[in-house]
Amino acid sequence: MAPGRFIVFEGGEGTGKSTQVGRLADTLSKAGIATLTTREPGGTPFAETIRAKLLAGDHAASGPDAEAILISAGRIDHLDAVIRPALTKGTWVLCDRFTDSTLVYQGRVSGGDRAFLSALNARVVGEAPPDLTIVIDLPAKEAIARLAARPGADGGRWDESSEAGHAAIREAFLDLAKADPARHVIVDGAGDIDAVADRVWSAVQVHFLAELA
Ligand code: TMP
Repeated sequence: MAPGRFIVFEGGEGTGKSTQVGRLADTLSKAGIATLTTREPGGTPFAETIRAKLLAGDHAASGPDAEAILISAGRIDHLDAVIRPALTKGTWVLCDRFTDSTLVYQGRVSGGDRAFLSALNARVVGEAPPDLTIVIDLPAKEAIARLAARPGADGGRWDESSEAGHAAIREAFLDLAKADPARHVIVDGAGDIDAVADRVWSAVQVHFLAELA
């Protein structure tokens, strides 16, 4: 049995990436591929407790490097208990956020040590980084408008950041994608959900030509 593929969705708050995770899972399932959707921080009971602490800002005072270590502890549990066993069984794993978010939020946004964060990510992920990271890209103004129309969403501490803050997060994700084009694709997140889902599916079909033939 061929191992499953590991696909990550990244992007700022309000870009619609979580919706697109669900849409791609439906499309892959219809194509006869077993899929599992999950998220970070989170994905296991232990990692979900870390998520709650992170979103509440409980560890912000300890600084971004401490926050990244906490997130990484959850990530190791998530990889060991959920992601790697699923991939081994041939299931495709779709994860809402992963290591790029650590480089963006704990690194670029919060000023964590970049070399440390990169080394931490490499240590946690080991030999098997995501096969593809899909960055859902949306101008800051549109992302803020979408967030405003979504009352009570379980957003992060960065939900309330300014337009300049959203723009900086967007740039940071785009920079990571451009620095590693073999494992990243940038998808335009503008327009309705179906249009974006079509763009995501086209990108996945191109990237996994052999597997989806
Ligand atoms: P979201 O998945 O609902 O967008 O929210 C998760 C929040 O966690 C988001 O504000 C980004 C943040 N986050 C980090 O700060 N570092 C990380 O490594 C990850 C995966 C998420």
